[in-house]
Order: sequence, then structure tokens, then C-alpha cells
Amino acid sequence: MPLKMADIHCRINPDAHINELLPHWTTVFGVPESVFTPVWEAMGPGRRILAEARVDGQIVSTVAVYLFEVSLGGFRSVQMPGVANVSTVPEFRGKGLSSELLRLAKEEMSGGFSLLYTGVPEHYAKVGYFLIPDLVVEIRPAGDPITPEPAPDRNRVQAIHSEGLATHPGAAVRDSVWWEKAVWFRTQSRLVWADIDAYLFADKSETGLTVIEAFGEAPALARLVNGAASWASANGMTEFRSRVRLPEGVESTATEHVGGAMVLPLRLDAGDSTRLGQGFLGIDHF
Ligand SMILES: CC(C)(COP(=O)(O)OP(=O)(O)OC[C@H]1O[C@@H](n2cnc3c(N)ncnc32)[C@H](O)[C@@H]1OP(=O)(O)O)[C@@H](O)C(=O)NCCC(=O)NCCS
Repeated sequence: MPLKMADIHCRINPDAHINELLPHWTTVFGVPESVFTPVWEAMGPGRRILAEARVDGQIVSTVAVYLFEVSLGGFRSVQMPGVANVSTVPEFRGKGLSSELLRLAKEEMSGGFSLLYTGVPEHYAKVGYFLIPDLVVEIRPAGDPITPEPAPDRNRVQAIHSEGLATHPGAAVRDSVWWEKAVWFRTQSRLVWADIDAYLFADKSETGLTVIEAFGEAPALARLVNGAASWASANGMTEFRSRVRLPEGVESTATEHVGGAMVLPLRLDAGDSTRLGQGFLGIDHF
């Protein structure tokens, strides 16, 4: 017997448990659990919102929101809810479930703005998100190859990040729990180059390397970026990109294009805007 919409229950679930969500997410997205678990754990119950739709107790649709904090420069920061894991099982698509969950989630959000990355912007435009320019930097490999660091000094990387925050408006603010839980080596496709003065995180695909985070002193950082691109080139990769601006000393061309990044202005909560929190403004978490 076909289910009626009345049989479907949409709500914010403050007690959502990852063990129940993982089978739904891994099925809909076709990726391993390790993509979802670290950020869920790193954010903790107070820093995430889960909107869900259930039929007969089974989850059929979700919208997750992670409450990141981004630097405004100096020691100021603002909350930035990042939308992730927007998913409906194929049998229940096109019934308005995801739109309803996005509306419920939006009611719960506050901060300066909300951000997400998507291939289906039409879906989010309906609740007010709009496309914004996205940066892509093409890197030309130069200099000697440098191999990625299999066991980077986590404390040093964390310190370089903290030191850089004040001068990097737009960067995610993180606390020690994030560094402990959502570690950069959480997937095989995430590589790290690090030395005493700089570090970078890059995502590796079959064809290339994409820098997703780069912090540190300019000369040291340029050396790492060039070395990483040369390493990728020496290993048969042909595409070297960055999603963040890179220092002088890296041969690159930057283009901005309107792509999958979307933003939603939110009411500003003055209480939250001055509190330091945790977060990871990672393009793979939206
Ligand atoms: C995107 C998704 C969550 C939509 O769920 P849903 O419950 O069917 O959503 P709704 O019924 O509320 O709205 C359907 C809308 O999805 C959008 N949409 C979904 N897939 C789309 C596609 N491939 N191209 C364009 N629009 C698409 C449309 O805007 C559609 O709007 P319409 O009702 O005006 O036609 C669902 O298709 C899904 O789980 N897809 C796979 C996972 C995914 O891609 N998630 C988004 C990651 S950013």
C-alpha cells in the first residue's frame, strides 16, 4: 500500500545517533563511514543540528548542520552553520521532504551566514541560499619534489593554525577536540605536508592534488606547495589546484567562478559572535 505523506514524520532530532544515520548516509552517498564519523564526533552534540524524516521509524531523509566558527580577523569570530549530508532515499525523492527539512534546519540556525557546497543549487535556492564566487587556483609545479608527511607533528600544525587565525579572516576556528577527533589524516585521500613554519592539507584524486588548507610563513609555505605539486607530478598526476589563496613564490593563476558554493545570510546572534568555538570549513563536509 503506498504511504501517505501523513505517515512521514519530519522533525529536528536533538538525540540523533550516528549509528542510525550511517547506514542511511553510506547508502545514499555511496562513500565509507569514515567520511561522516570524524566531523560528527569532532563537533559534539552542542555543535550540530539534525533534521530527519522517518517512515515507520526508519530514516528516509536527513539534513545535518554543523555549527562552525569562522575568524573575522583579530580575535573576533562568528558562527557559521555549514549544511551537510542532505539526503533522501530514492523511493521518497520529489515529495518535498528535503525542502521541509531544510526549512526546519534553517529555523534553528543563527550566526552571520550559512554556507554549503552543492551540485544541485536549485534545491537550496528555494530556501534562500544563493551562489557565490568560488576560488580555483591552478598551480604550476616548480622545484624539488617533497613527499607528504606520514606522521606530522600535530601540536606544531595546531600552533601554526592558531597563529595564523588572526590574520586569516574566513578561516575556521578550531578547538583541541577538533584537532583530536577530526584529524587531517582521517582518510587515505587526505595528505599533509608540514614543516616547522608551515603546513598544507591536500586532497588526492587519481588525476591530481587539491590544496584545501594552507597556513604558515610565506617562504616556507611556498616551498611546501611547490614541493607537493612537484611530488604529485613525479607520481603521474597532472592537475594541481588550490581552493585557498597561496603566497608569493608559487607559480599559479587564480580564477573565481560561480560554482557550487552557496551562502545564506542569517540573523546575527551577538552572544555567539564573540565566542570562540570549533569548526572545520572543509569543502568535503558540505
Ligand atoms: C537532493 C536530494 C536531497 C533532494 O531530496 P528530495 O527529498 O527529493 O527533495 P525535494 O522533494 O524537497 O525537492 C526536490 C528538488 O531537488 C532538486 N534536485 C534534486 N536532484 C536534482 C538534480 N540532479 N538536478 C537538479 N535539481 C535536483 C530539485 O530542485 C527538486 O526541485 P523540484 O521539486 O522543484 O523539482 C535527493 O535527490 C538526494 O538525496 N540526492 C542524492 C544526494 C545528494 O546529491 N545530496 C545533495 C548534496 S549537496
